[in-house]
Amino acid sequence: MQKQNDLSGNAVFDQWTSEHQVIDRFTDNLSEWIAAQSKLRCLQFRQTVEKLGELNEQLQSHFEREEEICKHLKAIHHDCPLDVEAVQRQIDHDHSDISNRLKHLIDQMQEAELAMDGWKKGVHELGLIIDLIEQHDEQEAESVTCLLTRVSL
Ligand SMILES: [Fe+2]
Ligand SMILES: [Fe+2]
Repeated sequence: MQKQNDLSGNAVFDQWTSEHQVIDRFTDNLSEWIAAQSKLRCLQFRQTVEKLGELNEQLQSHFEREEEICKHLKAIHHDCPLDVEAVQRQIDHDHSDISNRLKHLIDQMQEAELAMDGWKKGVHELGLIIDLIEQHDEQEAESVTCLLTRVSL
């Protein structure tokens, strides 16, 4: 039991880094796939909605893991809880922003399928969401690494 609570900073970091790599690969593949579809006459709205749903599922379980990481950081930084809370607030804010925009895009693409219109608008929004995920991950990595480094020093 004690061992689980003592999960080292590196173990948390490795697990979390590998999840980011999986998400990066997924968004890279998705962007490539979308770009290829955009050149075709028959736009794949339904498949796009499915892929966006997959991305959403991956992100939700990743975000849950990050909530666990925040709890872990809180436990090891009990001497300065305000620092961890500030990081956690920013992370929570970004996660709900990304989730809301992605869910809205899924709805938008489902409506677009019915009207067979709105592909470009949806693709543009997806590009913005992927940029947001990347920016969030960079900032999050910086903040979390900083907190983990302080513990391992
Ligand atoms: Fe995150
Ligand atoms: Fe993340």
